[in-house]
Amino acid sequence: MRIDDRTRASGREQAVTEEVLASFDATPDPRLREVMHSLVRHLHSFAREVRLSEREWDAAIEFLTRAGHITDAHRQEFILLSDVLGLSMLTVAINEAAAPGATESTVFGPFFVDEAPEVPLGGDIARGAAGTPCYVSGQVRSVTGAPIEGAKIEVWEADDDGFYDVQYLDGRSAGRGRLRSGDDGEYRFWSVLPAPYPIPHDGPVGDLLTATGRGPMRPAHLHFMVTAPGFRTLITHLFVAGDPYLDCDAVFGVKPGLIVEAAHHLGEPAPDGTHPRGAWTSIAFDLVLATGHTR
Ligand code: BEZ
Ligand code: FE
Repeated sequence: MRIDDRTRASGREQAVTEEVLASFDATPDPRLREVMHSLVRHLHSFAREVRLSEREWDAAIEFLTRAGHITDAHRQEFILLSDVLGLSMLTVAINEAAAPGATESTVFGPFFVDEAPEVPLGGDIARGAAGTPCYVSGQVRSVTGAPIEGAKIEVWEADDDGFYDVQYLDGRSAGRGRLRSGDDGEYRFWSVLPAPYPIPHDGPVGDLLTATGRGPMRPAHLHFMVTAPGFRTLITHLFVAGDPYLDCDAVFGVKPGLIVEAAHHLGEPAPDGTHPRGAWTSIAFDLVLATGHTR
């Protein structure tokens, strides 16, 4: 292309961007106006930078259409896309409480269930989920060290085969529970030792991972959501030290402070005085909440 043709083309490109930006100038909500202006600026410069072809634009639309078609009450392909692009973890980082000493947050994931069964302190959240028994215990406390009594602790995990109960589609409820911390902030429950598993990869997000030479695996983890009045809701995981996928989590959720050692036991009594038959494991981890609002 000659120089004056190139200048004219770039002027036309710029004119499209300016016109679209101006179309949002009258947005009454100033925050929405700011977000839309920024989105258009970045989206347009992305298209200019990669010199987006019409075939590529078609492929992107086809990708999003497939993501829409596979999304239902149990499957959220758009959140999965956000997860594998690191947008979910970037949003966590942007919004994380600046509270030194608080337990760090990570992605929420798609497998939380609102009405998980209530489990008493020391109870079993596995409730039939396959895996090596794991005794999990610790204290819920504030960054100043004050115990937090009555914190709501919601826990969920995949079984030894790498599936959450809701993925079986047979209505089972296992590997999840809701408990309250005791008067010294302590919590304890039985579960199973988590196993690594692949994120759902039979849809367009899986195809994207394959096309880019990335894997779908997440390192073994146990999900927590901890809520207490006057404290910021903590959404996090515990990751098991030694897991082969800690350095390549498909959704970038690993933080060093969330990696814990699982102790392995055989023939020893458990801390609750029971005598498990066969091998069992234990994890100890304190959950430290930042002051703020629950969400
Ligand atoms: C999960 O840990 O449950 C999860 C997180 C992000 C994407 C898929 C699964
Ligand atoms: Fe998970």
